[in-house]
Amino acid sequence: MKAKITLLPGDGIGPEVIGAAQEILNKIGEKFGHEFETESHHIGGIAIDETGVPLPDETLASCKKADAVLLGAVGGPKWDDPDAAVRPEQGLLGLRKALGLFANLRPVQPHPELMGASPLKESYLEGVDMLIFRELTGGVYFGEPREKRINKNGEEEAFDTMIYSESEVLRIAKLAFEIAGERRKKVTSVDKANVLESSRLWRKTVAKVAADYPDIELENLLVDAATMHLLSRPRDFDVMVTMNLFGDIITDESSMLTGSMGNMPSAALGEDLNSVGKPRGMYEPIHGSAPDIAGKGIANPVGMILSMAMMLRHSLGLNAEAETIEKAVDSVLNAGHRTGDIAKEGEKALGTAEMSEKIIEELL
Ligand code: IPM
Ligand code: MN
Repeated sequence: MKAKITLLPGDGIGPEVIGAAQEILNKIGEKFGHEFETESHHIGGIAIDETGVPLPDETLASCKKADAVLLGAVGGPKWDDPDAAVRPEQGLLGLRKALGLFANLRPVQPHPELMGASPLKESYLEGVDMLIFRELTGGVYFGEPREKRINKNGEEEAFDTMIYSESEVLRIAKLAFEIAGERRKKVTSVDKANVLESSRLWRKTVAKVAADYPDIELENLLVDAATMHLLSRPRDFDVMVTMNLFGDIITDESSMLTGSMGNMPSAALGEDLNSVGKPRGMYEPIHGSAPDIAGKGIANPVGMILSMAMMLRHSLGLNAEAETIEKAVDSVLNAGHRTGDIAKEGEKALGTAEMSEKIIEELL
């Protein structure tokens, strides 16, 4: 197959992990006879430095033409001034919105060999396998109006708007129920319906969708309780669905079940289909730009590599290729190879290039 892939390395450790993923993509292309045509573009802080804006037009144009997008990370202390007019994160948010990527899939599956890397006891982690659906183009991240202003007391004040329409909730909830049907048939919806109007609409709408899926169990949790239950009974969750802000928070928390954020992939999907007739998604690890270790060549490439595997499966329909990568990562971890974030005391920590080299060896 021929496919066009846009690479957005971005900031911090983004370029390092994208480099590792690209090498693996090339190997997969060779091994399975595919032609992956890649183009690299700026996004985030580096785009601000180079062009003045976090999402240059040519970056967006390339993503729109592509069959899928791979993104490293955006942001860093250099662009963190709270008064700055342009911010790296606007690039990522703008891209999610412009590509209509309303569904963010974040799987949480602690690797048996890495359970020791989680702060939670192993007995809590065995059998944990969940898929979190985070709504990605609505809610307080995009709600208007939003403003920073001087109030009548001469004091600075600021506000954001948390807003959801019924259709926005319907489409993500439907997707969650569909996928739950292929899994353990349980959906947990997370909201703050005891306080927020937007959450009450969310809960009511999810209940409507649930009525069409009588064989799937629906559990509603308030977000404060959900953060607790994620730690006290993580095994009970199958598919979780929640709004943009709560999903952002809960997925970082759940990454600790896997021991390190460095291992966690994600996919952002929308309704648009690509040239292969599959959703044109954007795939990124959830770890972010990790400025403290950027440029040192020690970042864990696994989250990025597994994101690329998700891309092959969901946007290109290449299931065997995706599995080959996932199995290779599995073997490398089973063989005891570790990057610094997941190495136990006394264990040797491999750099980004060494870790991906090990994974490549398993592909051949
Ligand atoms: C994430 C990140 C982003 C978000 C930031 C970088 C804007 O934390 O993908 O989870 O909040 O969505
Ligand atoms: Mn986040």
